[in-house]
Amino acid sequence: MKRKVILDVDTGSDDAIAILSALAAPELDVVAICTVAGNKPIEMTTENTLRVLDLFGADVPVYRGCKEPLAKGLQPSRWECSPRKTLIVDGKEVQIHEDYLPLPESRRQTEPMSAIDFYLKIVPAFAEPVTLIAVGPLTNLGVALTVDSEAFCSNLEEIFIMGGGVRMTNYSPSAEFNIWYDPEAAQKVADCPVPSVWVPLDATHEAYVTSANVARLREGTRPWCAFAADTIDQRIFIHDALQPLAEPHAGSVHDAVAVCAAIHPDVLSDCQERNLSIGIGGAAEGQTIIDPRIYPLEPNCRFALGGNRERFSQWLIDTLLA
Ligand code: RIB
Ligand code: CA
Repeated sequence: MKRKVILDVDTGSDDAIAILSALAAPELDVVAICTVAGNKPIEMTTENTLRVLDLFGADVPVYRGCKEPLAKGLQPSRWECSPRKTLIVDGKEVQIHEDYLPLPESRRQTEPMSAIDFYLKIVPAFAEPVTLIAVGPLTNLGVALTVDSEAFCSNLEEIFIMGGGVRMTNYSPSAEFNIWYDPEAAQKVADCPVPSVWVPLDATHEAYVTSANVARLREGTRPWCAFAADTIDQRIFIHDALQPLAEPHAGSVHDAVAVCAAIHPDVLSDCQERNLSIGIGGAAEGQTIIDPRIYPLEPNCRFALGGNRERFSQWLIDTLLA
């Protein structure tokens, strides 16, 4: 029986690989995709999502979501962030997420309903519970929880979240990007009654992909193989330059690890039932704080502190090649 899933994405490069792998995975039935602003403005993340669906040839409804975070936008000072290293090649900054994916412009349309209305009106009426895999800022989920948390939670069996980091951050000294972008929404998700599995950078920086894995992908004949290989190679190039992993010629494909976790929980290691709270404001903006005390606060999530590289890389390439 396939697992019915909804993807919530801010399509950039690793979201694109997550979407392709979820569509290609025989264990999953992607019933809808919701877009959110994050890596890029909502217009771009939505267009990029449509382009990936064109590439795969999948008939999946896309619901456009929030164009700005729940509350952060009201306080411009919270957008300030420590300067980050950039990579200049031939005089041009190399970005891990280009504005638009290098795919033909899509002619598809999104659904007339917003992602919020989809979560609150359509999902509760599904014949069976569905799994949500959120790999961008959690704004859509936070707004839906604010409007009607009972309806939002009523038919969700589990939520997988790519986000956060304890030993590892990327957007600021204390935070990973998805959570930094909308901390209030992340706290609402951590506190909601739906069981959640958090896939932070601690997991995705261990469950990485190498150039050797990509070389196998390049032998594939599926229409998405070349795009996926180029996209992952670009991520490896940037990781090698700016965020080196345990070995050279290696890169994280964060969002696809969350998809893999929904199929193969053993891709995550050191997965702990913990109380997760989110830093809001100041130096802790967007920090994922798991209570380490002997007598901790009541757990509200499962939080993975490691990842299994072999499991992930094998699954990803096999799935994209199939
Ligand atoms: O920090 C990694 C996360 O931020 C990934 O989801 C990536 O797509 C960006 O959204
Ligand atoms: Ca993402």
